[in-house]
Parts: sequence; C-alpha cells; structure tokens
Amino acid sequence: MAVRLFEGKDHAVAYLQYRVMPQELISVVMGHQPSFHLAVDVGCGSGQGTALLAPFFTKVIGTDVSPAQLEMVPTNSSPPNVSYSRQCPAEELPFESGEVDLVTAMTAAHWFDRERFLQEAYRVLRPGGCLALLSYTMDMELEYGDVSDALNDICKEVSNLHFSH
Ligand SMILES: C[S@@+](CC[C@H](N)C(=O)[O-])C[C@H]1O[C@@H](n2cnc3c(N)ncnc32)[C@H](O)[C@@H]1O
Repeated sequence: MAVRLFEGKDHAVAYLQYRVMPQELISVVMGHQPSFHLAVDVGCGSGQGTALLAPFFTKVIGTDVSPAQLEMVPTNSSPPNVSYSRQCPAEELPFESGEVDLVTAMTAAHWFDRERFLQEAYRVLRPGGCLALLSYTMDMELEYGDVSDALNDICKEVSNLHFSH
C-alpha cells in the first residue's frame, strides 16, 4: 500500500532546503542507460534529482503525488528540457506504453505500492529501458509477479557492490 507523508507545505519547504543531491548515483545510472530520449523521475519531490538528468536526455519529466512538493520546484532555474507538469501517483503514470527510456525513483520507492509501481514502470518503459531505484538504503522488499525473490537478490547484490566500501 502507498504511504503519503509529503503533503504539507512546511515539510516541502524544509525538504527543498536540506535534501542532498545524488550526483554520484546519477553517474552510475547513466553507465547502464542505452538511450536518451525521455526520462521520468517518479516521486520527484521538489526536483533536485530530476534536474540532474537534464544533461543526458532530450526530455525529462518529474511526477509526484504531492502538489505541495511540486509547488516547491524552483521552475525559474530549471533546465529548459525538464518539466513537472504531471501530478499523479507512482502507480498510475500518465505515459504511453513503451515511450520512456529511463524511470527513476529517488529516495521515493519505499513509499509506493511497489508491486503496482513496478508493473507501471514495466509498462511505460521501452524494451531495454532502465528502471533505477535510488535510495540511502535498500532496506525494503520488492514484489513483482513470480520474480520477486530474484529481483530482491539482484538489488542486494548491486547494493553490496556499490556501497560495501
Ligand atoms: C523523500 S521524497 C524524495 C523526493 C525526490 N525524489 C528527492 O530525491 O529528493 C519522496 C517523494 O515521494 C513522493 N511520493 C510518495 N508516495 C508517492 C506515490 N505513491 N506516488 C507518487 N509520489 C509519491 C512524495 O510526495 C515525495 O515528494
């Protein structure tokens, strides 16, 4: 089940002020990325991570379920190819099937209904597209059909590779 804790304006203001930028993780993701037309950053909050995708893609769209978070996006300093026009839940993404090259969720997927989100990400991603879940910890379980165990094993392996030293 999805959890909603980011709806208040005060929370959104503090978040914009104190969130650190995941630049190094973005470089790791780009190393796995085969094509660069459309990136969608789900649960984008006030857009700190979303903007980091701008140099790599023709178009970047940030989505979030919280209007308060989206209102805090500093749009006057946003790169021109980035927009935040889609307020929506992660579990119902307003994109055509197969039109997205990269779906990211940066410190956000732990709040989603992950089974529904993963199905939705799979639907909107083009064949060979990339899903990147960025977080401070992988202390969460993913559910996806009959491959949940394999998916969780892969996440643990990647997490150990990148963060064990
Ligand atoms: C910790 S913030 C991360 C924001 C941003 N991605 C970052 O890296 O700074 C989590 C964000 O996920 C959003 N969120 C939580 N549940 C959601 C859902 N079910 N669908 C879409 N967004 C959601 C919240 O509104 C919040 O903006």
